[in-house]
Amino acid sequence: MNISIVGTGYVGLVTGACLAELGNNVICVDNDESKIKSLKKGRITIYEPGLKELVRRNLRRKRLVFTTSIKDGIKNALLIFIAVGTPPKPNGEADLTYVENVCSEIARNMMTYKLIVEKSTVPIETGMWVERTIRQNNERRVAFDIASNPEFLSEGSAINDFMHPDRIVIGVKTKRARDLLTELYSPLKAPILVTNIKSAEIIKHASNSFLATKISFINAISNICEKCGADVLEVAKGMGMDKRIGESFLNAGVGFGGFCFPKDLLAFMHISEKLGYDFGLLREVEKINRDQKGLLIKKVKENVWNLKGKTIGILGLSFKPNTDDIRYSPAIDIIERLKKEGVKIKAYDPQAMAKARQELDDVQFCKDPYGVAKNSNCLIIITEWDEFKQLDFTKVKKLLKQPLIIDGRNICDPKSMKKLGFKYIGIGRKE
Ligand code: UDX
Repeated sequence: MNISIVGTGYVGLVTGACLAELGNNVICVDNDESKIKSLKKGRITIYEPGLKELVRRNLRRKRLVFTTSIKDGIKNALLIFIAVGTPPKPNGEADLTYVENVCSEIARNMMTYKLIVEKSTVPIETGMWVERTIRQNNERRVAFDIASNPEFLSEGSAINDFMHPDRIVIGVKTKRARDLLTELYSPLKAPILVTNIKSAEIIKHASNSFLATKISFINAISNICEKCGADVLEVAKGMGMDKRIGESFLNAGVGFGGFCFPKDLLAFMHISEKLGYDFGLLREVEKINRDQKGLLIKKVKENVWNLKGKTIGILGLSFKPNTDDIRYSPAIDIIERLKKEGVKIKAYDPQAMAKARQELDDVQFCKDPYGVAKNSNCLIIITEWDEFKQLDFTKVKKLLKQPLIIDGRNICDPKSMKKLGFKYIGIGRKE
């Protein structure tokens, strides 16, 4: 099939590359000229395992093409995916200006039937606005359909998530739209759920909010565990063995970050409010997540005493492992708060240092975790990169000024750490 993807951010690029890999002819459109120039050469600005290879292979096969022109991009496309950004406004509401602009431009340039699919995470009723905007600008009266096809790609495993999804959700109004999308995804042999457009939009918001709720729930439990001497890892295991609960997303830690959960949670609360429902549960989820970072700072203070002038080592800057994405990363927030207390920060991340350098001032970036440990009063693990699980902790202990580790992701075994002579503090675990 001939496909156009408008927006080459995270979702657009992964979707485009994967659809090309499945044998489709894909044109990706973006108005960022320097980005398109780089992509044409197979240069990718985000770190996502396997993505560079996929893009380069399909560029060579000429199944993946990049352009800055919507007109050229959609000319021969039967399906157009809208994957432009929907950044949060100061009140948490999603800003849909980019979506609107793209819709008008598509409408002004289309000559033949198009199925226009929203892929960006958008509030309910965006489908209706997309349709209205296209109709208003569609002076040639070209036939078109709209659909909602939310993405469930997780950074770090996005290609696998695309190729082996648990489900594909298609929100449509017409049989033509349903048949086209069903045909497109048939090679994946995954369950396809066909719904109306509003249900598809809600499924995305509800899924992300539910997962965020699961994380905040286990983080709340971790606080109880700390107070009573239970171990949150054992509790999560016991809960997760119940098939109705499931073991995933029950890892207690410094909280969730990234460009999806925090933003989508706010947007969903905003939508609910607009619809006349006060989704107080999600407000609490957000609060627990915020507090979790404060609790980590409290642990630092309780164990380092005065923070002013002390050096704290930070391991992990990305919001989760296997990505260089630092947007809404707990690490960035924690570093900023520590800096306000007069702390000197040393930091290391296997992939996110370039992006963190642009975001953070007054941080000494080190070439490896041992450089971070050297002469630090405390080491904080914020992202659970595999590299940190395999550290030579005997060496780390020798380098630290005080043998103190605060493990914000519970990657170490408290007993072994104690045996090595560390003061080890995890999240929701016995010391
Ligand atoms: C998420 C959704 O999983 C994906 O389906 C959606 O389309 C986009 O948003 P992503 O933001 O890439 O994906 O990461 P995810 O793996 O969901 O993790 C989000 C955050 O939650 C991370 O900061 C992670 O560290 C944290 N997390 C996750 C926990 O703190 N505990 C857990 O048990 C799981």
